[in-house]
Amino acid sequence: CGIVGYVGARPALTIVLDGLRRLEYRGYDSAGVAVLGDGELLTEKRAGKLANLEKALGERVPAEGIGIDGGHTGIGHTRWATHGGPTDRNAHPHVSTDGRVAVIHNGIIENFAKLRAELESAGVEFASDTDTECAAHLVAAELADVDAEGFVGDGAARLAEAMRRVCRRLDGAFTLLAVDTRTPDAVVGARRNSPLVVGRGDGEHFMASDVSAFIEHTREAIELGQDQVVLITPAGVVITDFDGAPAQGKDFHIDWDASAAEKGGYDYFMLKEIDEQPQAVAETLLGRLSETGQIVLDEVRLTDQDLRDVDKIFIIACGTAYHSGMVAKYAIEHWTRIPCEVELASEFRYRDPVLDRSTLVIAISQSGETMDTLMALRHAKEQKARVLAICNTNGSTIPRESDAVLYTHGGPEIAVASTKAFLTQLAACYLVGLHLAQVRGVMYADEVGAVVDQLQQAPAQLTEVLAAMGPVRQLARDLKDASTVLFIGRHVGYPVALEGALKLKELAYMHAEGFAAGELKHGSIALIDDGTPVVCIVPSPVGRGMLHDKMVSNIQEVRARGARTIVIAEAGDEAVAAYADHLIYVPRTPTLLAPLMTTVPLQVLACGIADARGNDVDQPRNLAKSVTVE
Ligand code: G6P
Repeated sequence: CGIVGYVGARPALTIVLDGLRRLEYRGYDSAGVAVLGDGELLTEKRAGKLANLEKALGERVPAEGIGIDGGHTGIGHTRWATHGGPTDRNAHPHVSTDGRVAVIHNGIIENFAKLRAELESAGVEFASDTDTECAAHLVAAELADVDAEGFVGDGAARLAEAMRRVCRRLDGAFTLLAVDTRTPDAVVGARRNSPLVVGRGDGEHFMASDVSAFIEHTREAIELGQDQVVLITPAGVVITDFDGAPAQGKDFHIDWDASAAEKGGYDYFMLKEIDEQPQAVAETLLGRLSETGQIVLDEVRLTDQDLRDVDKIFIIACGTAYHSGMVAKYAIEHWTRIPCEVELASEFRYRDPVLDRSTLVIAISQSGETMDTLMALRHAKEQKARVLAICNTNGSTIPRESDAVLYTHGGPEIAVASTKAFLTQLAACYLVGLHLAQVRGVMYADEVGAVVDQLQQAPAQLTEVLAAMGPVRQLARDLKDASTVLFIGRHVGYPVALEGALKLKELAYMHAEGFAAGELKHGSIALIDDGTPVVCIVPSPVGRGMLHDKMVSNIQEVRARGARTIVIAEAGDEAVAAYADHLIYVPRTPTLLAPLMTTVPLQVLACGIADARGNDVDQPRNLAKSVTVE
């Protein structure tokens, strides 16, 4: 979910809605706002995308008094449903029975059933099925207690105190924002295991799930720590821990280019982000090789000796990031000779993995906030493993909790289905592999330098790939009514096949599956029927000729059973031409680096098929870009 809060002199509704528009990628099955005007709480919320909320706001008959567009304090929410379906009544904000307190929430309150029962037995009637509503009633109840106790402090301080008391009673993950009609110039926020940043303005302050919500208004931000409560008023920001002791956030300056979060003439963010890949990869590689030929990471709180002691690596990640981890395994094992496993973060801690001080866990996450990955990371740390994060979001939770970090400099990725994040994660994984190999003395500086040189060519080669995508877009239109599309690959082509299938499922809502090409004959080949499209990712014939030839045999096997083959191969590979119904060439790269090239046509294909089917490419149904629940 995405949340925004504002206090200042400007109309809060406009600022909150703009912020929500930029956060909609975090979930978009309902949205709502609450604004304080003239001592009144004005709320509006709607199921569906933000446009539904905006329509409802537009249709509001102007009331007496200030009206919802006149208030200067407001909060807003865009939701990805967990408790309770995506309906108007379950949309946030949730309001206390006395109509004075409105609350929005990101995360899951795990003890909500108990709290709800307790509130109901005290006579509170619930208006929704959400866990969040408990928080609204609890804040109202605590405010009443605070008042009854004769709390010393101004109105805003009372609100912060009530929020702290509520937080101490909640289990689980939450970012909460609340407003109270009796303190018209304040928004209080709290965070545990869920992101919240504050934006500092001049006579105005902001809160949001991430900085993109207020990047137009200020570049100065504060990242909140775990278990902190923050109060914003036009005059300032006050941070405490849950017990009320003064606390510090971490100030930072935002250097993202705001236009990076605009569509810039493209129909979809995804098309723009696909086209940004050469630049994103170049930025990720920039300045990574020191003058002495050493690979440089961003934050390293580990010694070289710690890295030399590593005897086992686990890569943990979800979704697309997991596929980049699968590619990384091939490169890291090959270069470092350290055994490396890749595991879905959501499975990791539940199977009791064997971890110790000499285990290195690499967590890959674009957002740095994926709860499954974060929880796997924490489990690894509890077992004393070292953690290195590969992440695109400065100041997010995963890098903050890691022992070393390498940031992918992909810039903001808005489309829900990941494209440039994947390519930059690959680049970062290669750098981590090379760094480990170098520190451990298994690769010399010149060998590392040679791979870095090849990596440096990737941006220009990617530009070539992108320039040749016309036939892929045509093919996408042809395939729009296919009932299934299969993807096969070997070696690093296997994770590419999985990623190609995932893109198609996410965007086109089509059945798609990726297979290790050699495994297909052990069962799944039964799926192939006359005309079944099979996308085949072919390894380079140079260097690992045997792998190439095996793949060509696999293509023949599916073709013999009627498949329509779409072959992605390296320029100059003439041997595959005879078996390809459609042939897409990509520039020659060393085998391990090939996913940087071969993934791109699959992204374009999925985007094209989704568009031809009339789907919302940037915001596919049921998904959220950043999933902050387990
Ligand atoms: C969600 C997104 C995926 C993404 C995954 C991991 O499921 O829809 O596109 O790959 O999360 O996200 P992360 O931010 O951890 O890379």
